[in-house]
Amino acid sequence: MQKIKQYVSDNEQRFLDELFELLRFPSVSADPKYAADVKNTAEFVAQKLRDAGADNVEVCPTAGHPIVYGEKLIDPAKPTVLVYGHYDVQPPDPLELWETPPFEPTIRDGKIFARGACDDKGQFYMHVKAFELMSQEGMLACNIKFMIEGEEEVGSENLGVFVKENKERLAADVVLISDTAMISLDTPSLETGLRGLSYVEVEVVGPNRDLHSGVYGGAVANPATILAKMIASLHDENNHITVPGFYDDVVELTEEERKALNSAPYNEEEYKRDLDVKALWGENGYSTIERTGTRPTMEVNGIWSGYIGEGAKTVLPSKANAKISMRLVPNQDSQTITKLFADHFAKIAPPSVKVTVKPHHGGEPVVTPTDSVAFRAAEKAMEESFGKKPIPTRGGGSIPIVALFEKELGIKTVLMGFGLDSDNLHSPNEKFDIANYLKGIETIPLFHKYFAELGK
Ligand code: BES
Ligand code: MN
Ligand code: MN
Repeated sequence: MQKIKQYVSDNEQRFLDELFELLRFPSVSADPKYAADVKNTAEFVAQKLRDAGADNVEVCPTAGHPIVYGEKLIDPAKPTVLVYGHYDVQPPDPLELWETPPFEPTIRDGKIFARGACDDKGQFYMHVKAFELMSQEGMLACNIKFMIEGEEEVGSENLGVFVKENKERLAADVVLISDTAMISLDTPSLETGLRGLSYVEVEVVGPNRDLHSGVYGGAVANPATILAKMIASLHDENNHITVPGFYDDVVELTEEERKALNSAPYNEEEYKRDLDVKALWGENGYSTIERTGTRPTMEVNGIWSGYIGEGAKTVLPSKANAKISMRLVPNQDSQTITKLFADHFAKIAPPSVKVTVKPHHGGEPVVTPTDSVAFRAAEKAMEESFGKKPIPTRGGGSIPIVALFEKELGIKTVLMGFGLDSDNLHSPNEKFDIANYLKGIETIPLFHKYFAELGK
């Protein structure tokens, strides 16, 4: 541990400078206008893997954005760790809400502010630097493979193909991912599950053109009103989702599991203060920890219709649209849920409008094992570097590829994230504490050490 700490403190400034370089690439996967930047980011990551000592580094083209692969195979008798991460980021808008520009990383108050600082550039780059440290200090304990993709934020569609075509190359004993959060630097935790995702776009069409709201208003259904009513009906008075069959496959936790989860530290007053809300909202009968970790939910991500420019325009819009996502928990299946939603949404539409539901990407929920050698290695590593045993928690976000690794490669994942829920992922002013970044670099070599020691 002393050697690790020494290396990290000797190289701290360079570790930060390199991360800053990486953060300056606007690798927004959703917007085709950044395609060249995304590719340049992949080349940069590949070069950094080579510099850190990786072999067979390759920028692998896909039908979409490239995947960066690299490896260091030291001994076939040793276990193999497959590190997964993503170098793509969410779009930065609304730009005006950033205190400093999203692709000009800036330190304030010990925190790095930039799009991707936490999700996931700062986090996957900890593995690149931990690998450099292990190579330089003769501490490599496991074989290591890196697969850093560029399409996580848009559904990882081409990664599925890559995984299926490269089963042999990707063979490993565990997938190690830092793309989740822990409770805090004082309270380390390990996520043991992720929610799945069903995402749809709906359109409600009324008259065949925008109409004068005085001439026609009152006699023709307004799609904006209809859509609002339809959306409002999707939750009942207990905030349960009303889509028939939605909860059929949900695994209820045992009272003991619920108790264990709810014993994690959580301060409701602080939670509300941070978000500036007077009261919380959610499914009756469940705590906030359960609502965001073990219960399925439905959210409107965007909604638009009619005139939204300056001043007033009297118009009865022809159509209204919304993007709606559902977070899923074991054993819900994203395709089944999408179908249930689409059927229900069509059914509740009045005859005065036409409705279409277009499915977007989805993903399956996962629960990761807590009785495995890999999980114990992660626990031991965190316990040593934080001086406290990590608490198992459930993550509310989704990393759809985790279920796919299990299905296609038969490999389980350890989610050893070092971010915080309050790091503003996907929001303006995304950040990552320097302390978390350095702690991650310190903890990762310990994971490799204990994973090798505890045996496959
Ligand atoms: N890193 C996040 C997922 C995450 C965040 C998991 C915090 C646990 C805690 C990931 O990059 C992400 O944002 N995933 C998307 C899904 C994807 C299909 C767009 C998500 O959760 O919305
Ligand atoms: Mn991520
Ligand atoms: Mn993300």
